[in-house]
Amino acid sequence: MACCTYCWLLMGLLGLSYEVSKPLNQMCTELFTNRSYSCEGLGLTELPEQLPFTTEVLDFSFNFLYTLQHSTFSKLKALVHLDLTRCQINWVYEGTFESNIYLETIVFTGNNLLFLARTAFTGPQRLKHLDLTQTGITKLTFIPMQDLHNIETLSLGGNYIQSLELPPGFPTRKLKYLDLQMNIIQTISIRDIKALKQANNLTLNLRGNKIMHIEPKAFSSFFFYNLDFGSCINISVILDGLQGVSTVVLWLGSFLGADNPPIQHSTLQGICNISVDYLTLQYRTFLEFSGDTFQCLSKLKRLDLTHTSLSELLDLPQMNLLKELNLNQNRFSNLCDIHSSAFPSLTHLYIQKNYEAMDLNSGCLESLSKLQHLDLSRSHIESLDCCSNQLRGLNGLQHLNLSYNHNLSFHNTAFNECPNLEVLDLTFTHIIISNSQGPFHNLHSLKILNLSFSRIDTSKQNILQDLNSLLVLNMNGNRFESGTIFSDNFFQKAPNLEVLTLASCQLLSIEAKAFFALKKLKHVDLSHNKLIAFSSDVFSNHRNIYLNFANNRIHIIPRDLLTSLSGQSIINLSYNPLECTCSNIGLLTWYKQNIDKIEDSEETVCSEPKSLEGMKLFSINLSCGYSTARTALITLVVIIVIVVTFILIIRSLKQNQHQI
Ligand SMILES: *[C@@H]1O[C@H](CO)[C@@H](O)[C@H](O)[C@H]1NC(C)=O
Ligand SMILES: *[C@@H]1O[C@H](CO)[C@@H](O)[C@H](O)[C@H]1NC(C)=O
Ligand SMILES: *[C@@H]1O[C@H](CO)[C@@H](O)[C@H](O)[C@H]1NC(C)=O
Ligand SMILES: *[C@@H]1O[C@H](CO)[C@@H](O)[C@H](O)[C@H]1NC(C)=O
Ligand SMILES: *[C@@H]1O[C@H](CO)[C@@H](O)[C@H](O)[C@H]1NC(C)=O
Ligand SMILES: *[C@@H]1O[C@H](CO)[C@@H](O)[C@H](O)[C@H]1NC(C)=O
Ligand SMILES: *[C@@H]1O[C@H](CO)[C@@H](O)[C@H](O)[C@H]1NC(C)=O
Ligand SMILES: *[C@@H]1O[C@H](CO)[C@@H](O)[C@H](O)[C@H]1NC(C)=O
Ligand SMILES: *[C@@H]1O[C@H](CO)[C@@H](O)[C@H](O)[C@H]1NC(C)=O
Repeated sequence: MACCTYCWLLMGLLGLSYEVSKPLNQMCTELFTNRSYSCEGLGLTELPEQLPFTTEVLDFSFNFLYTLQHSTFSKLKALVHLDLTRCQINWVYEGTFESNIYLETIVFTGNNLLFLARTAFTGPQRLKHLDLTQTGITKLTFIPMQDLHNIETLSLGGNYIQSLELPPGFPTRKLKYLDLQMNIIQTISIRDIKALKQANNLTLNLRGNKIMHIEPKAFSSFFFYNLDFGSCINISVILDGLQGVSTVVLWLGSFLGADNPPIQHSTLQGICNISVDYLTLQYRTFLEFSGDTFQCLSKLKRLDLTHTSLSELLDLPQMNLLKELNLNQNRFSNLCDIHSSAFPSLTHLYIQKNYEAMDLNSGCLESLSKLQHLDLSRSHIESLDCCSNQLRGLNGLQHLNLSYNHNLSFHNTAFNECPNLEVLDLTFTHIIISNSQGPFHNLHSLKILNLSFSRIDTSKQNILQDLNSLLVLNMNGNRFESGTIFSDNFFQKAPNLEVLTLASCQLLSIEAKAFFALKKLKHVDLSHNKLIAFSSDVFSNHRNIYLNFANNRIHIIPRDLLTSLSGQSIINLSYNPLECTCSNIGLLTWYKQNIDKIEDSEETVCSEPKSLEGMKLFSINLSCGYSTARTALITLVVIIVIVVTFILIIRSLKQNQHQI
């Protein structure tokens, strides 16, 4: 007996230890069978035994490893991607990754590394990405470079590196991205960066270093893809040091709130001897802007002047190659204060979020005959007679964004000057239409029209007049008379419409023929309205349609409105007060059989009866079978038949008796 108690105890203990190790495996989430696991933030101090040897991707971030050695990852021979972010690793010993020959990415972010053995990275021949961000590194020589021949990305941001002096044998053969942002580099000498000359198409990120001096000619005849000196304080110092360099992108911008000295008259002089296609100066400021400031920018292809406190761009030198200009978040009060004839090749112009009310004036952009994309959103624009004069000459315009502006009145053909528009966004801009022909009737190429929250008068029948190419129409947040879309409506004029969004329009009902002409509709959003009927019958295409009726007031859906939805159709019925009673059995049974057609089934729940409130529709097992009335009727018939038979038998018996 005592022996057996002992056995139980032992088994209990074994069971316990079994229990302790098992959850480890279960805690790591399997993202892709046998291949990809996440053990993020589980407080683990070692790798769970149960991770299969086939694991290729392992996110082991936010655990406690302290030291890494040969045995740590030796079982996971198939590893390709390893994330060790913030695991309190201090020591990385010899041959840690020796067995992981397929490893391509190691992320060490946020570990305070005190020791990296000379052979720490021996093994993985294909190592491409090494992330040593915020690892307390003070010197580049701390990193053993001997095994990094194939490195493409080396991230060393947020450390205490003082000197860019690259150690001999620094691997540049395949290097594409060297990130040294937020370090404490102050000077760059010719010797420091000599090794980078062999790199091809490199991005060098030195953002946030306080660079005070670059040795003259240090970068001369180097070629980069992107040189990022963002947030460096003195632009002149940088440009002096970059004389003779070629780079596709030069990032000299800053950030909101950074306190940098303003760009002066001569600050950008140094660009004359630099070959650059794309320059960004965002979040810098110009002191007394004059055209001379841009003297050396005439060969740019793209220029970003976001948030540079500009109120005018006049007397510019010719910038004949400029294709893209970004003037977001400035202070233009008049569009004509931008000297647009200086950049006749421009294809993209962005003037978003202008801080002042901007007057579009007349023909200010006339010289931009190649302009394709114009963004004037959120710029306090108001116009009593838009937009033919304002957009004069913009024949090639394809994309126009006038969203989030003030009142725009369309009297005549509003976009007469831009007959090639394909995308027009008027979201949240108050549109007033006062012409009979339809404001957009010349836009035969228009594909996307956003009129959401534009307060457009929906009783006007000509809004979409002649928009034969229109595929996408957004009408969210507009009101319809009596909350109804009548059969006779303006949608019928855009017969090729595929996507129609009518959310938050306070709709109560839709008439039977409302979308009769729209045979190609594929995607209809009627969510956030007050509809009581799931009127799928108003759409002619039932095979592959997406119908969003979420957030309405639908209680019951008859089965015949559902059965016609075949093929790839998807419906969203979430957040409706659906009934889970026998009167809705049509929906309830169809629903279970067609769960693949339901979007958001988690939020598609019963509201009636009270006992089932909040239950997901798919979990409801209602057995309505024969209704009670039918059962009662059948019972009655059976009883009558029995009684009648009985009476007949008795009668015939009695008759027989009489005869006897
Ligand atoms: C996962 O690995 C186990 C054990 O090696 C194997 O039996 C199973 O077939 C594998 N599953 C897949 C989807 O590869
Ligand atoms: C240079 O690098 C950038 C970004 O890394 C890439 O988009 C571009 O295609 C590369 N150009 C060449 C010529 O390899
Ligand atoms: C920037 O550095 C140059 C020397 O290259 C110096 O003349 C100039 O005053 C500095 N500008 C500022 C704002 O510190
Ligand atoms: C810069 O260019 C000018 C002429 O364009 C030339 O005289 C000068 O030597 C160049 N400076 C450097 C540092 O290359
Ligand atoms: C128009 O601009 C707004 C805000 O600036 C943006 O959200 C919207 O996506 C743009 N529209 C198009 C069609 O790109
Ligand atoms: C712009 O619209 C607002 C609100 O509808 C109106 O009060 C204002 O008078 C309009 N301004 C002009 C110039 O039409
Ligand atoms: C207007 O709708 C279009 C098409 O759906 C979309 O691309 C654009 O971003 C929308 N505009 C805004 C301001 O959301
Ligand atoms: C269903 O529609 C609602 C309302 O538009 C939306 O919030 C929800 O994300 C949709 N569900 C899915 C899965 O897209
Ligand atoms: C409905 O039946 C299924 C299995 O037949 C069951 O899992 C589920 O709990 C039932 N739902 C309710 C609300 O009783």
